[in-house]
Order: sequence, then C-alpha cells, then structure tokens
Amino acid sequence: MTSTARSIIVDTDPGQDDALAILLALASPELEVLGFIGVAGNVPLDLTTRNIRVICELAGRTEVPVYAGANRPIKRALVTAEHVHGSTGLDGAVLPEPSMELQSQHGVDFLVETVLNRPENSVTLCSLGPLTNLALALQKEPRIAPRIQELVMMGGGFFEGGNITPAAEFNIFVDPDAAKIVFESGIPITMFPLDCTHQALTSAARIAAFRALSSRVGDACAGWLEFFERFDEDKYGTDGGPLHDPNVIAYLLQPDIYGARFINVEVETESQLTLGMTVADWWQVSGKEPNVTYVRDVDADAFYKLLLERIALL
Ligand code: RIB
Ligand code: CA
Repeated sequence: MTSTARSIIVDTDPGQDDALAILLALASPELEVLGFIGVAGNVPLDLTTRNIRVICELAGRTEVPVYAGANRPIKRALVTAEHVHGSTGLDGAVLPEPSMELQSQHGVDFLVETVLNRPENSVTLCSLGPLTNLALALQKEPRIAPRIQELVMMGGGFFEGGNITPAAEFNIFVDPDAAKIVFESGIPITMFPLDCTHQALTSAARIAAFRALSSRVGDACAGWLEFFERFDEDKYGTDGGPLHDPNVIAYLLQPDIYGARFINVEVETESQLTLGMTVADWWQVSGKEPNVTYVRDVDADAFYKLLLERIALL
C-alpha cells in the first residue's frame, strides 16, 4: 500500500466477477481496502460473506476485515442468481473453507462509523452488488452522504437493456428501492452499467492468460471465468461473457481507459414490466439535473492487461 493510497470500502456479493474485482483491489498498492461488506445478491448473505473470506485467504490478505451487511433488500423479497454463479456463488474453482473470522459489527454500522470517523471526502465506496447496505446506511445516518468521496458502482444499463429482465440489470433489479435512495442522495456517483461491461468480454485467449500464470490465484481466476462466462456465451452468442465488477476497481487505477458523460439517471421502482430499469438521459433531453457519471466506453485490451498484471502479483 503506498503512503497516499486511496481508502476504499468494497460492498460485494461474490460472485466470480466480484472475486476478480476483490483480487484486483488487494493486489493494487494505490488502494487501501478498509473493509469488505457482504450483501445478499448473487447468492444469500451467508455465502457472500463466506466467499469474501475465501477470496481474502486466496490472496493472503486475511488482515482486511469482513462484515456481514443486509440479508435481503430493503422492501422486496430477495432474488438470487445461482443460475449464473452456481450454488456456492464461486463455482469454477474449489478452495478451502475460510478460517478467518467474520466481524461481529454489522456492515451498515461499519460503513456509517468509518465515514463519520474519517476526514470528509476520504472514503470511496465501491459497490459490486445490490445497493441495499448503502441505502440502509443513508437512512440510519443521513450525515454520511456529503462525507463520502465517491460511490463507484457496477449496476444498471440502458442501451444494452437488462440481464435479469429485458429492462433491468441484476444489481438494481434486486433492490430498486435502495438504488432510488442512493441515486437521490447527492453522493458523487460513477456508474458502470451493462453498456460498459458488455464491451469487456472474456475470451478463450484472455482466460488462457490467467491459466498461464501457473499460480493458485491464476488457476482460480481461470476456473471462475470459464464457469461464469458459459451462461453469457449462450445468451449473447459471443466467444466470452461480459466481466462486470472488476471495472469498478480498474477505474480507480486507470480512469483514462473509460469514457463517460455526466447525466441524469433515475430508477423505476413501481412498474412490474420495467422494475429496476435505470433510465439514463444520455442525450440530455429531460432537462433534469445530472446526478451520475455514466460510463459507456472501455478500452477492453487495457482493462484485461491491467487485471492480469495485477493479479499476477498475488
Ligand atoms: O449484472 C451483473 C452484476 O450482478 C454483477 O455485479 C454480478 O456480480 C451480479 O452481482
Ligand atoms: Ca456482484
């Protein structure tokens, strides 16, 4: 960790793509991970908090605290994605059960306490799953909103449509009410929607590069990517599947490989047809105040080069 490392909290629902994002964060000295908060999403909370610890032990970074956050969305019933991630949420690689402890403090309280106790604009929140924990933290302690340096999140989509319904991306669909609270919070938000992540496709060659690292970490990443992409390969008819969550961390390391626009984004929370849809005013026709830096482009080769070279360090 460098002396001027950026302090981040990672809120996550591993998930193979979350796993590579977590490894990228832990491998990068520019970042100081203050803690991980598990959220119910891809799989239930007991598995997401187990998976975070599995990944930390794989990286040899068991000193980073892991907290359990919300076990369900703030209003709706939980929807999970075992059909994509497998029953464990980390199918594709077999790793030992974690021995590192889960913190006893609730993840939402950890988030509130950390933001209040550290200097203003010194903590960045990286959200890789449903936005439930941040929404609960904002409801519990509204004073955190102006103190958070930036929320960098994977979620939503507009030009690419949805991946769990025709209109909605999974993270937003699971907890649209939480997303609405967050998008209206005034926190500086940088959003990585499907419009961006669908340009960051895995491929046989990109996966082989992880395998060629000939390391436990490289083998686990290759196994996870092979498992995770099989679902999207069929769905999108592409050589590989989109790799979503690591873009959040890669942006913190190399923002110049991304292209974005500051626009208005709102979330549908009522319609059954379009529940969880993020309506992105890309052409700025609504006259509504911009509230989100909406990332639409990525240099995929640069993204995978960064991901591979950092994970090779573990
Ligand atoms: O829609 C993709 C998102 O949903 C990713 O964060 C993936 O891990 C799942 O949580
Ligand atoms: Ca995720």
